[in-house]
Order: sequence, then structure tokens, then C-alpha cells
Amino acid sequence: MSAADQTKKVPPITGATRVFAIFGRPVGHALSPLIHNAAFAAAGEDAVLVGFSPSPKGLETALRGLVAAGCAGLTITIPFKTEIVPMLDELGDSARATGAVNTVAIGKDGRLTGHNTDVDGVLRCFERLPKRPRERAVMLGAGGAARAAVAAMSRAGISQLAILNRTQAKAEALVAEMAGKGAGPMMLEAVGLSDQSLAHHLAEAALLVNTTPVGMYPRGDETPVPAALLRERLDVIDAIYRPDPTRLCHDARSAGAAAVSGVDWIIAQGVVALKYWLGIEPDEAAMRAALTGFLSQRN
Ligand code: ATR
Repeated sequence: MSAADQTKKVPPITGATRVFAIFGRPVGHALSPLIHNAAFAAAGEDAVLVGFSPSPKGLETALRGLVAAGCAGLTITIPFKTEIVPMLDELGDSARATGAVNTVAIGKDGRLTGHNTDVDGVLRCFERLPKRPRERAVMLGAGGAARAAVAAMSRAGISQLAILNRTQAKAEALVAEMAGKGAGPMMLEAVGLSDQSLAHHLAEAALLVNTTPVGMYPRGDETPVPAALLRERLDVIDAIYRPDPTRLCHDARSAGAAAVSGVDWIIAQGVVALKYWLGIEPDEAAMRAALTGFLSQRN
């Protein structure tokens, strides 16, 4: 379908338009409105997603008010992903595994169910990698994205994960929080990040997941892993979406491995959110085009 045809198909915003919301603070840079509105447009859905930035104290009032007013579903981003949890009626598996919610589905009876589609997003990223058994993985970073990646790696069948973090205590805290719980049967090890630990753990690994911001625009010439440590049997998932590809993804592909980027991850988590809200399989290509078009204008 041409862009012109697609524009024609988008219904005008009227009193009948369903309103979805994103809560974040700040919310102005959030990418969810861009990709979800592209998906609504491509599907001809009479719906729109807009941003709100409640004060931390006003979060519950904002949530209850929007739901009472007929909001159709919510995306939750920083700093509310854990704060929102006690305000919900139930949690899906992904939210329980991480203790964090980025998507709220609203039932016909008004019940609020929290999901963490960052987890589902990483699982979909696995589908883009060559099918092969992967026992050991290395993850860089121990923040919010790392938590979702741990839950997803366990579900994807990784049996041993080394979490390498600049601040070792933070990796230890993540291991304590998730071992035997959100990480399922996967064995976790917390390691201080150094040239030596990186080389040692990568030598045994079949997957590398980067959740640190190293290599992110405007420092796209940086990379968290020297190219010399990459090889064909070491596939990469990088949480960074700008630039796309990152130097890490580029170097991994040059070494003969497969690499999926933060763009893939963002699109995948959005696809899953739309399935929860609308039960539709959204047009992933339209979402991707909206995101990459927007990001390329900003480079
Ligand atoms: P997110 O929630 O998006 O995962 P975050 O919570 O800010 O982001 O986490 C960023 C992670 O990247 C942290 O684990 C951080 O390490 P520290 O715990 O030592 O702060 C890691 N990180 C950030 N900048 C880094 C750098 N320059 N080198 C290595 N790790 C870095």
C-alpha cells in the first residue's frame, strides 16, 4: 500500500476514537506513540496513543481517572514500571518474573492486567537468530532492560548466564532478586566487568546481550566488546536502537554471527502490546518504518 493510500485509510479523530495512553516522566522522548500510532494507522484502527506525565504522587489518581474515563490500554515507562505494579488487579507471567510492567490491558470489567512486553520482545528477538542450542550467555549491564532480558533468556532455554556489570554489587543484587524466581532454572553468576572477565566469559558463550548504553548515539563509535572477542558462534542482542546497527552489531555480523538490534527489540515489544490490547497481529513493517524514519531524521 502506498503512503497516500495508507493516509486515506486512517480514520479522523472523532468522539468515537479509542484513546490509549503512555505514562512516563519525562514522556516527550518516548517512542511508543510513534510505533503504536503507525500500527493503528496501518490496521485502519480508530485509535490513538498519547503521552501523559503524572507526578509520582499522582500516578494512581491518573491511572484510576483515565481508566474510569474509558482509556483503552496503557504503556508504562520510566520511572513508573515498578511503581504501577501494586495498583493492578493481576500480573501476567512476564510481569511476575520481572516485578515490572510496561503494558496494562484493561478488561471489559475494568480489571487491570500488567504485562512486561520487554520480556516477550527479547523472546521474539530470539526468533531472528539462527536455531541452535545455546547453553551459556553473557549479559552486560544490570538495570531495567537487563531484568527483562534475564527472564526472556531463561524462557528461551539458556542454562547459564554470566551477568557482567561495571558495578559488581548491582549484578549481585539482580542475581539475588531473580535466581530461582524470575530466572527460572537458569544459573546466574554476577561478575565485575573487566577486560579479563569479558574475554573469559565470552570464550564459553553462544550469546551476548548488551543492555548498557555503551555505543549509543552520539557515541556510536564506541562498543562494549572489542571486535577481537566476537566470533561466528557468538550471536548478539543489543538493546541500543540508535544508531542502527550499533558498532557491536556491525562487528558481530562481520565476524559471521547474527545480531539483532534495539530497533528489533522495541518493535517486538510493541507488537506484543498490541496483541494484548486489540488481539491483532499488527503490521510490523509499518511500525518499523515509522521508527527508523523518525530516528534517521534525528541523526
Ligand atoms: P536500563 O534501565 O535501560 O537498563 P540503567 O538502569 O541505567 O538502564 O542501566 C544501565 C546499565 O548499564 C547499568 O548496569 C550500568 O552499570 P552500573 O550499574 O555500573 O551503573 C551500565 N552502564 C552504564 N554506562 C556504562 C559504561 N560506560 N560502561 C559499562 N556499563 C555501563
